[in-house]
Amino acid sequence: MRILVTGGSGFVGQRLCQLLSEQGHEVQVVSRSPHQVRERLPSSCDIRDSAQAFIESPPDALVNLAGEPIAAKRWSDEQKAKLINSRVAATEQLVALCKQLKANGQPLPKVMVSGSAMGYYGAQGKRVVSEETMPNEEFAHRLCQQWEAAAQPIEALGVRLAILRTGLVLEASGGSLQKMLPPFKWGLGGRFGSGEQFMPWIHRDDLVAVILFLVNQDGLNGAFNGSAPHPVTNATFTRVLAKQLNRPAIFPVPAFVLKAGLGEMSRLLLTGADMRPARLEAAGFTFQYPTLDKALGAIL
Ligand SMILES: NC(=O)c1ccc[n+]([C@@H]2O[C@H](COP(=O)([O-])OP(=O)(O)OC[C@H]3O[C@@H](n4cnc5c(N)ncnc54)[C@H](OP(=O)(O)O)[C@@H]3O)[C@@H](O)[C@H]2O)c1
Repeated sequence: MRILVTGGSGFVGQRLCQLLSEQGHEVQVVSRSPHQVRERLPSSCDIRDSAQAFIESPPDALVNLAGEPIAAKRWSDEQKAKLINSRVAATEQLVALCKQLKANGQPLPKVMVSGSAMGYYGAQGKRVVSEETMPNEEFAHRLCQQWEAAAQPIEALGVRLAILRTGLVLEASGGSLQKMLPPFKWGLGGRFGSGEQFMPWIHRDDLVAVILFLVNQDGLNGAFNGSAPHPVTNATFTRVLAKQLNRPAIFPVPAFVLKAGLGEMSRLLLTGADMRPARLEAAGFTFQYPTLDKALGAIL
């Protein structure tokens, strides 16, 4: 298959592109700086600076992962706009590519797997969250809602759309775990605030397998929660991580410190949702790493 990936140079995208290449797929990557990301991707990947640049070689499937990193900077109004606009613009580029292909009478991709996140649901307390749960109105929800809405018009063109509401992606080489490991290795780790907030998580290899599952299963469309079937609270995550590293985790970070330091972005650490992959499980997806012990054991 010929598969176009936006954000292919990122933490998730790199592993996805590597696997797709190993499986013999033709991989197209959209990147803002093709030359700079060249060495992060398999040599066979065709990297270009826009989706439109692939008009002469139409992809069979689209995977949409690009976006300004969510926790890179404090959420000023300007940064919030960048978080939304970067995702909406990348998604709109893919819709525009499909419109152009259709207008030209060229073949359309059969599917788009488009990114979203657990933030879609906002803070949910102790409630068990499925794809049907009503979201909490807050910035993270508005961000994901606009990201998802930008993808919707692709369905009217006849392209199947699967939206992936991803949990915290775990692997040592990037994402949140990479940032958490140094303090935990020094024995300086601890829970955030009360530690009662849920942290839905997924091993990066399982997430990549979910993306391939959604690309390949013809009947699947709509929103899917992309996280392991056994989410944990922040306190449990802290305990399991410390145990895996054989270190104590006795330095909790009080909520007021995080709020003072991070402002509204502290909600990423202090609130969460007990998100379950209800639709993936119903569709028969099997997680290689269903529990945190197993995932961190493999990673560390
Ligand atoms: N990692 C997680 O735990 C997690 C959890 C939930 C949801 N997600 C979402 O899943 C997607 C993939 O995650 P990831 O961790 O792989 O992301 P990532 O590494 O932070 O970024 C993916 C790619 O997005 C592109 N990008 C960055 N800033 C951009 C901007 N301002 N405008 C346009 N493109 C930009 C970059 O590609 P180029 O530099 O090549 O253009 C980057 O390689 C992201 O959208 C993320 O929000 C991730």
